[in-house]
Amino acid sequence: MTERLFQAENLSVSFGGIRAVQDLSFSVEQGEIFSIIGPNGAGKTTVFNLISRLYDLDRGRMIFEGDDISGLAPHQIAERGIARTFQNTELFERETVLNNLLIGRHIHRSTRLLDEFLFLPGVRRQELEFRKRVEDVIDLLDLQPYREQIIGNLPYGVRKMVEVARALCMEPKLLLLDEPSSGLNPEETEDLSYWLEDINEDLGITVIMVEHDMNLVARASHRVLALADGLALAVGAPSEIQNHPDVLRAYLGD
Ligand SMILES: Nc1ncnc2c1ncn2[C@@H]1O[C@H](COP(=O)(O)OP(=O)(O)O)[C@@H](O)[C@H]1O
Ligand SMILES: [Mg+2]
Repeated sequence: MTERLFQAENLSVSFGGIRAVQDLSFSVEQGEIFSIIGPNGAGKTTVFNLISRLYDLDRGRMIFEGDDISGLAPHQIAERGIARTFQNTELFERETVLNNLLIGRHIHRSTRLLDEFLFLPGVRRQELEFRKRVEDVIDLLDLQPYREQIIGNLPYGVRKMVEVARALCMEPKLLLLDEPSSGLNPEETEDLSYWLEDINEDLGITVIMVEHDMNLVARASHRVLALADGLALAVGAPSEIQNHPDVLRAYLGD
């Protein structure tokens, strides 16, 4: 049997008069790739901003590994093992790929600052383990050729993968990907689907993916949630959701 990793209960948030997310409930099982689809403005990114605690909930709660995480600070969410990427990449443009991955460390470290200064053996071991993790992720996502290159000089598709890499360096249990295929060409999108499989099956990471490419969604996801105007329309297998009358109506009306 599968085990529940994340649960959203009656999430609601409004901005001014706009009800961005309304009474939204869903749950994600351990080991799943769970996709969220919906027209522009449906509330998809807002769901990620709620989970990563960049936004406060008006109502509802979020449960991760059995704990209520609704009131945690963003860095505590990261420490719990929830990492994300952004719809428009947020990387340090003037730094190398390697440095961008190493910067993720400050979110993950469990040692105190003073210990870092003293560079105690435990700290050194953690640092070495982290560097090993970074190198493994570079290998996993085929980023070796770009390792020492400056982010600002890289093609968009590579930057997107660097963002995924940075999130993976944090050794997340739950990875939130916001439109990972946007701006990628068909070949890069194909590569992405294989990497998603590796991330999910080899690293054992559960994924929630906001995605508009229905081919990728159908190929990669175990289940799909369709949103429109902040409301859940349907949840189910990709084939069910693609042919669901309410979902089709939401897209046609877009
Ligand atoms: N910080 C914010 N301030 C005001 N309105 C917001 C904010 N974040 C999201 N919204 C609004 O909430 C709705 C959902 O946005 P969003 O979650 O970004 O949609 P999606 O990612 O599905 O395209 C939109 O109407 C958007 O303008
Ligand atoms: Mg969005």
